[in-house]
Amino acid sequence: MKVVHTIEELRDQLRGQLRVSFVPTMGNLHQGHLSLMKLARQHGDPVVASIFVNRLQFGPNEDFDRYPRTLEVDIEKLERERDVYVLFAPHEKEMYPEPQSYQILPPADLGGILEGEFRPGFFTGVSTVVLKLFSCVQPQVAVFGKKDYQQLMVVRHMCRQFQLPVKIIAHETVRDTDGLALSSRNRYLSEHERAEAPQLYACLQGIRTRLLAGASNPDELTQEAAAFLTARGWDVDYLTLRRQRDLCAPSPEEIRSAEPLVILSAAKLGATRLIDNLEVF
Ligand code: PAJ
Repeated sequence: MKVVHTIEELRDQLRGQLRVSFVPTMGNLHQGHLSLMKLARQHGDPVVASIFVNRLQFGPNEDFDRYPRTLEVDIEKLERERDVYVLFAPHEKEMYPEPQSYQILPPADLGGILEGEFRPGFFTGVSTVVLKLFSCVQPQVAVFGKKDYQQLMVVRHMCRQFQLPVKIIAHETVRDTDGLALSSRNRYLSEHERAEAPQLYACLQGIRTRLLAGASNPDELTQEAAAFLTARGWDVDYLTLRRQRDLCAPSPEEIRSAEPLVILSAAKLGATRLIDNLEVF
């Protein structure tokens, strides 16, 4: 695997390649990231991965400074898996040589709700860096995880809006054996919090089971689950049932007619904010 830090080196490595498959990350790689790279390999060759902790998508009170940066270990993991041909790990000056004055602002009804409501500017930061990374790598295919469901939708929407010639492929959420979605932020959890963390996914599963059994009262189900988590010490930002296609709330008729839905949630356990989601129908 070649590790490159500049756009010039990256372009040298990729000259003439027409089936580039790309996986952008912020590093601290876990099995979820690695399996995105495996999927990327099925859809193109060579596979390019990036590791870049993007300041622009962190709020002023978020964890940019303490976000885990583990490049050496990440490189070892990628070398072992042998799926990635080039790792692009740019320095901040390479991606942001000057203050970023042009930014990609997703529409409020997609980028301003749910995660966007609790993390203002988050999807602007994500969209801007993803467009920049696409422009550096010029992939034909890019793989994103469903773990960040709304991010995946924002990226797809941006590609349509700007006619980007990149096919976006979604990878299922990779979980630990107890159901907790893998995340670089899980390492912030104390032992006690780590034992509690699977409850979030358990709640989503409980709601899904009841919807599949014919329940058509989503507000009751989600409020009950949020109250359950709150009673166990969680601080729930949102826990809500939405349509898969636009993340709007479904009508009772849509729930009855098995419209594709998704339960989305974000909740804090101590100082750590976890997100998860589960598709229904
Ligand atoms: P990061 O959190 O490092 O995630 C990189 C990619 O891995 C994203 O597409 C994310 O959805 C996926 N991923 C993370 N955990 C996963 C899991 N448990 N199962 C499946 N996929 C998982 O998301 C970002 O970085 C950034 O916002 C980025 C897109 C790189 C822009 O900075």
